[in-house]
Amino acid sequence: MSATGRIRSLSSLVIFFCGAVAILSPPSTSSVDTFVFGGCTQQKYIPGSPFDSNLNLLLGRLVGTAASSAYANFTVLGSTPQDTIYGLYQCRGDLNSGDCSRCVAGAVSRLGTVCTDACGGALQLEGCFVKYDNRSFFGAEDKTLVVRKCGPPIGSNSGALTRLDAALAYLATGGGTYRVGGAGEVQSTAQCIGDLSVSECQDCITDAIGRLKSACGASAWGDVYLAKCYTRFTRGVTYSQDGGNGYGNGNNTKNNDDETNKTLAIIIGLIAAVALIILFITFLNKKCEKRKGCK
Ligand SMILES: *[C@@H]1O[C@H](CO)[C@@H](O)[C@H](O)[C@H]1NC(C)=O
Ligand SMILES: *[C@@H]1O[C@H](CO)[C@@H](O)[C@H](O)[C@H]1NC(C)=O
Ligand SMILES: *[C@@H]1O[C@H](CO)[C@@H](O)[C@H](O)[C@H]1NC(C)=O
Repeated sequence: MSATGRIRSLSSLVIFFCGAVAILSPPSTSSVDTFVFGGCTQQKYIPGSPFDSNLNLLLGRLVGTAASSAYANFTVLGSTPQDTIYGLYQCRGDLNSGDCSRCVAGAVSRLGTVCTDACGGALQLEGCFVKYDNRSFFGAEDKTLVVRKCGPPIGSNSGALTRLDAALAYLATGGGTYRVGGAGEVQSTAQCIGDLSVSECQDCITDAIGRLKSACGASAWGDVYLAKCYTRFTRGVTYSQDGGNGYGNGNNTKNNDDETNKTLAIIIGLIAAVALIILFITFLNKKCEKRKGCK
């Protein structure tokens, strides 16, 4: 085999090896722009109409403001009431301005494909929420259930239920539009849309907590998204990137899991590499035998 041929084989081996490790690595925890839900009105506007240009103006303003504020609302007045559009966004309270800005830009661009030509649309990503409509919805409390998802059951464990209660109780008493709680291995978060009043936000979160407890109390994690607020919890994984917001100051089992996963990935990767090298040597030997020489 020629030198270049051997190098080519080696480099394809390296590529294969990297690919194998990438496949074996655990999936990364959900990021800020992970899709949660989207919804659109049935009614459509005419592309190229004044409605269309007002909507573009509105969405542009939302994106333009997200670098300087975690919440904003805008109204673009049309020449007729039907062409007046209302829109807002809300970033998760722990995002920095760069992440908030990227999240809102991503949500607006996805709204364009999820809700093509719709008179109203709403989209929730992990890190932000964007909604627009030609009917005003600012300041209106809306506790419609949008998403309720529970993780796998953890089995009967009264200690785990007690810690969940404690973590959610922090949210109920927290105050503010973004709330973080924790107890033991349980981390909890809640977020209101910024157009709600203090008492409406409190009412919305309390409602979401009740639904979350009854639906997902015995699960590894749970999410309840209502139209104007959400409440979530997870056991052993933290949502906040800095990890310093929890009230519980519990043991950070996420890091331990990550370490275990990394070690596992490395071991599997090494086994795969050894297997590949053996295959590679066998392959070279066969070639050598055929050609009766190795040069
Ligand atoms: C929203 O716009 C659509 C299309 O122009 C129109 O039919 C509808 O009446 C408008 N809705 C409101 C509340 O103005
Ligand atoms: C909408 O935004 C304006 C300022 O930009 C603010 O004064 C007002 O309170 C906001 N309204 C709601 C319902 O959030
Ligand atoms: C952290 O873990 C240690 C032992 O693993 C345990 O004794 C302690 O109670 C834990 N702390 C919390 C807050 O869960």
